[in-house]
Formats: sequence, C-alpha cells, structure tokens
Amino acid sequence: MTVITAETVERAQGEVIVARGDVITPLARDRAAELGIIIRQGAAAPAISASSRTAVVEPPLASSPAARPAALMAMLQKGNLAAPTQLGAFSGALYRRGASLPSAMAPGGVVARTAAQSNRTARPRAAVIGAGHVGATTTLRLVETSLFEDVTMIDIVEGLAEGLALDMWHSAGLRGFTTKVKGSGDLSALAGVDYIVMTAGRPRKPGMSRTDLTAVNAQIVEGVAAQVRLYAPDAVVVVVTNPLEEMTELMCRRTGFPPERVIGMAGVLDSARFCSLVALTGIAGPGEVEALALGSHGPEMVIPLSLATVRGRPLKGQIPDAEMNAIVERARNSGAEVVGLLKTGSAYYSPGESAAMMVQSMVTGDGRVIAACVKSGGAYGLPDTRIGLPVRLGARGVAEIVELPLAADERAALRTAADSIATRIAELG
Ligand code: APR
Repeated sequence: MTVITAETVERAQGEVIVARGDVITPLARDRAAELGIIIRQGAAAPAISASSRTAVVEPPLASSPAARPAALMAMLQKGNLAAPTQLGAFSGALYRRGASLPSAMAPGGVVARTAAQSNRTARPRAAVIGAGHVGATTTLRLVETSLFEDVTMIDIVEGLAEGLALDMWHSAGLRGFTTKVKGSGDLSALAGVDYIVMTAGRPRKPGMSRTDLTAVNAQIVEGVAAQVRLYAPDAVVVVVTNPLEEMTELMCRRTGFPPERVIGMAGVLDSARFCSLVALTGIAGPGEVEALALGSHGPEMVIPLSLATVRGRPLKGQIPDAEMNAIVERARNSGAEVVGLLKTGSAYYSPGESAAMMVQSMVTGDGRVIAACVKSGGAYGLPDTRIGLPVRLGARGVAEIVELPLAADERAALRTAADSIATRIAELG
C-alpha cells in the first residue's frame, strides 16, 4: 500500500497512477485539483471511491449496461479513447474534443468550484426537487450510496418531502447508509448543494405524449430555475422533468448556467430499457448487453445498432432483423407502455435509478461513457441544440462529448432528431 500525499502530487508530472490498496489523502486530492494533476488507476487497478474522507482504492462498482458498451470498451483498450478516471474536480478536459475551452476552464482561467470542491474533505451535498414517484426513488438510490453528506428532497406538498425523508432515514441502519436524508417544502433548502436532480412536474396519463406536458411543466421549471439560480448558483443540475429536451434547455436558460452544468436524463434510461428488452429474448442477461440510446427521449430516439454488443460481440446478427426492429420500437415506446399499464402516472423505478447513476458518475469520476441530453456544440456535425449524445461526466457536469464512429444512417437519424428537437425548443419561445 502506498500513501498518496500532497507531496506525491506536487512531484508528479501530469498524473499520478494508483493501485489497489493505495490511500489518497484529502490534501493530495486538493492539490491534484489545484494543479490539474489527474489521479488515475493503473492498467489493472480497480475503480476509486471518492466517498470517504480519505479515498482508498476499492473494487470497481458494478457498471450498468447503459454505462459500459463493450464497443466503447474495446476502443478504450485499443487506446482510441483516453479514459482517465478522475478523482474529484473537473480536470479541464475538453468539453468536446477539439472544442475551445470554456473560459473558466481554460489554462490559467479560474476554475469555478462547488461547495464540495472548496471544502473537499466533506462529502458533496445533493438535493432532489419533487418528492413524487421519480423524486423519491432517485433520493433513495442516492442516499444508499453513502457518497453524500446529505440529500434533501423538496416538494410543494406540505409534509410530503419531510415524511418520505424521515421514512427513508428510518431504514438507514438496516440498509447501512450514512447519508442523511432531509425533506423540505422550501426551495431555500437548496443553499449550498452541489448536485440537484429536478423531477418536479406532471407525469403523463395514458394517451398523452411527453410534449403534451410542455405548458404545465414549463411553468414549474421556470419557477424552480429562478430559485436554483438564487440558492445554488454553482450546482450541477440533472433534469428529469418531461418533455426532456425542452425542459432541460429551459432550466439552462432560466438558471443562466453554462450548458455543461445542466444535463438531461434520458439516454441512460432509454439505453437500459433497450438492453433489458434484448435480454428478454434469452440471448444474454441485461448486464451483458451494451448499447447507447441517443437522439431524443421520444419518437426520434436513435439506437445505433452498429455499436451494440452482447458479451463483447456485435449484437447485429444475433437476433433476426425483424425481431431487432421490434425491440428498438418497443424501447422507443417503453415509457408509454408503462403509462398505459399504470394509468395514473409514469415510470419511476428505472428513471430514478438512471438519474441517481448520473450523479454518482459525476461524484465518483468513474469516467463511464453514458448517453445524456446535452448541448451538441457542433459535435457529430449537428446543429447546436439539446440532444442525447455519448458523454463522459465529471464533477462539474459534462466533461466531454465522445465522438463515436456511427454508421451513415445512424448519423442521418441523429441529424433528423436534432432538427425536430430544435423546432420544439424554438416553439418554447
Ligand atoms: N416545486 C416542488 N415540487 C413540485 C413543484 C414545485 N414547483 N411542482 C410540482 N411538484 C411536485 C409535486 O407536488 C409532486 O410531488 O412534483 C412531484 C411530481 O411527482 P409525481 O406526480 O409522482 O410525478 P413523477 O412520476 O415523479 O414524475 C415527475 O418526471 O419522468 C418525469 O414525466 C415525468 O415530468 C414528470 C416528472
């Protein structure tokens, strides 16, 4: 075991390689963040947990199918893509390969810091807005990781968030988590949080499309965004409220946050839905199917089958084409399928799990490639609109949009999705 100290970091040139059992002191993490030194695992070393005051290199967290497409892993192994596992602060990695750095991240620039980063010996703090089905599920998933100092649920319905939070906290000893769960009816409880998951809003009813929610949820998002800006001006926001692309863009505009700090949750969910449906054919378990769902969280969803794999081998050819097309279609309509069965609301277990996984990826700096709704910034030759693309998340939000080798028809489908989303966003006014 080696103790990685601030001195080790100061002597390092660019990066510090750690191995199983190594201990990284909080001061070393601070110095690494200050100097832009990346602390990463050695080739065969396991993932790093940032959950404890003094980080110890631990066995890797189980990664979800949506999070680790084997095609990507193959690329990583071939060295086509660099995948440094970062610990803590945003490294200054490009927002998109080849793109200019946002000024605050440019060399010599001032790196904006979250409350957690300026007090790095403490665990980060999170809040979930909306204590309904998705909000409560997200909160439970977040607190169970013990990665956070506290997670606060906030809802306008009096007593709802407080009651659910107390109920969850009662299970802390049984489940073995140390993150405090709090509830509030007031958005001022956002003060000082580092990560926010926005779930407040109406869910769909049978027969409704997500865009039918635009008017009512836009009002809610606008009201909440003003308070986010006021109380948590440095936070990273993950938006779950539908219609996803529009509400994510609205949250970004109304908070005035840079686009990399407002991210929509849809791709992780849609990817997981696709993988689980492939697994229903019996060819593999859901964790053995790797795929990414890009484009929109709706009819223009693009699942690039050229990248999809099962146990590391191409998915194409393992299932007859007609069946494959039916699975893609079912994945695209999975939300509506659940709504049709529930009749009184929409899905929440898998959306809550997906949102929590995104925040966890930022906090641990696991460097996974996941699908998320981001501003394209010209990536993939797309117009600069909100769209689901492959990204790596870092402590400060989107660290990189990852450009993957899509087939020509998949690129064209992404382009169509971007055009439709841009039109819908323009209609927001
Ligand atoms: N501030 C705080 N909470 C609010 C606000 C607000 N301004 N407006 C509404 N809420 C709360 C409601 O009181 C409710 O408890 O948001 C919660 C929404 O919960 P549910 O009705 O159970 O809806 P849910 O299934 O969680 O879906 C929420 O996520 O997946 C999307 O399409 C879905 O837009 C919907 C959102």
